[in-house]
Amino acid sequence: MATIVEGQIRAGTIDELKDGACRVVTGGGHTIAVVYHDGEVYAVDNRCPHMGFPLDRGSVSDGILTCHWHHARFDLSSGGTFNPFADDVRSFPVSVVDGEVWVDPRPVERDEAEHWAGRLRDGLEHSIRLVIAKSVLGLNTAGADYREPLRIGAEFGTTYTSAGWGAAMTILTSAANISPLLAEEDRPLAMYQGLLHVARECAGRPPRFVVDPLPTGETRPEVFKQWFRGFIDVRDEDAAERCLRTAIELGLSQRDIADMVFAAATDHIYLDAGHVVDFANKAFELLDHIGWDHASQVLTSLVHGMARARRSQELSSWRHPIDLASMAWQARDELPGLVEAGAGRQGEWNGEDALAREMLSDSPAAIIDAIKEAIRSGASADGLGSAVAYAAFLRMAHFHISNEFNDWDTVHNTLTAANALHQALRRAPSVELMRGVFDVAMSIYLDRFLNMPPQRIPETSPGPVDEPMLLSQLAGHMNIRQQVEEVSHLVSGYLTGSGEPDTLLAALGRGMLVEDAGFHSFQIVDAGFNQYRNRQGTESGRHVLIGMSRFLAAHSPTPRSVGQTFQIALRLQRGEEIFRE
Ligand code: FES
Repeated sequence: MATIVEGQIRAGTIDELKDGACRVVTGGGHTIAVVYHDGEVYAVDNRCPHMGFPLDRGSVSDGILTCHWHHARFDLSSGGTFNPFADDVRSFPVSVVDGEVWVDPRPVERDEAEHWAGRLRDGLEHSIRLVIAKSVLGLNTAGADYREPLRIGAEFGTTYTSAGWGAAMTILTSAANISPLLAEEDRPLAMYQGLLHVARECAGRPPRFVVDPLPTGETRPEVFKQWFRGFIDVRDEDAAERCLRTAIELGLSQRDIADMVFAAATDHIYLDAGHVVDFANKAFELLDHIGWDHASQVLTSLVHGMARARRSQELSSWRHPIDLASMAWQARDELPGLVEAGAGRQGEWNGEDALAREMLSDSPAAIIDAIKEAIRSGASADGLGSAVAYAAFLRMAHFHISNEFNDWDTVHNTLTAANALHQALRRAPSVELMRGVFDVAMSIYLDRFLNMPPQRIPETSPGPVDEPMLLSQLAGHMNIRQQVEEVSHLVSGYLTGSGEPDTLLAALGRGMLVEDAGFHSFQIVDAGFNQYRNRQGTESGRHVLIGMSRFLAAHSPTPRSVGQTFQIALRLQRGEEIFRE
């Protein structure tokens, strides 16, 4: 039996090892496989780095150790793997003294954060979910800030897709946004899910090359803004990207850059059903996390989508039977005068909730008039954005389950567009961006049939609640399909019964993350958390979370395969056995 002598483990004599059998020794917290091969002795961690299969049950040939579970192969001398789905196995120094073999149980030192950052890049490049999960957990354990995997994902996701910013980068940013409101142990799961979407979306796509800035002497923000809007208008991607890159590299302020992007994003009506403003807003939110240093890389990835976006004035639904596009254009033309009229009354207006309810009207003219009146009365850009977001959440709260299932997405799309517009208006309020309020309001109008009949919102039921019991019931309903109203009542009862909102938000976040959560789930949780934070303790806040939780309940449960991989990575990290005979 091996014993530890002066920090080394005796693994037997060289003659015993020559017999061919791999010998397993333990020490220093490691189980180590010691192998004699071709005149040399090697020692490697006996746990296969892929999924923990005992490597002493593998085979050695030509200096290569092969694991017998999924057949990952390792260079015996270094532990380096030939298969990216596995990882390098830790190797240990070996010495032979007087025919006796000694293993030093201290593996070759490595920088854990650097190692897992490299593995995360491997996982993204090869789209291997287990490697991505292990890397996120490895970085977390190594003490890396959440921004490290986010930054790696952002660089990868804005480079390896010629199509530019898309759903995956939006998901990744939403994952970062919602993290502070999640339970601490769920934060790596959110990041893992976001990164997984980035890997999938980029798989097989050619990279994007960022253009060089202009060698220009022009530095005026208003000129760059005019150029950029003009290039997007004629769908000239290359020119628009070079203009934006130049403005960023020249050091124009973040506000000026946001202003030019959001103005171009609203120069036409409801571009790509609100996705253009949504993606642009998310790109700025991402920069809030990872820093403005990444602005050129991140923001130029928006240009492709902006230039190619579908313009809603070209859609028949915006022209017939009512010419909504013309109504929106006319209101846009009046906007500067309305803003000027309301300028002296800033702070007087507090009609957000009333305006939101007027936006649910079945008269587009009345909706536009209500918005115009609010602006004349001093409504701020933030207030208008908040009203339109609340109206969109009310549509979701009143969505009737007798509608076709896919129509959840119709209402959802307007909701995320509304939330994005609200966040953008808070970041960079401008008359140009306020045009988007009319656009989203018309989209809310177009969704009116999905509230016929309107689903009743649960009544309030003040009184103490049994928080653990309600949260357990909530999780139970999410395990069963279509428990929409049951979940709606639980959430409503929790909030009106003075349950701790942060606990509920964390539970709803976990409810989303245990599923194979996609674009829409991340978007609505991000939007719901955002809107709720501004309305905590109010009726409108309750309606926001009811709307959000109804959508989640309608889309649960999924196969939950993504979470299963994460659980495997977690168990491996804890040293648990995955392989069972
Ligand atoms: S290859 Fe070794 S456990 Fe999978």
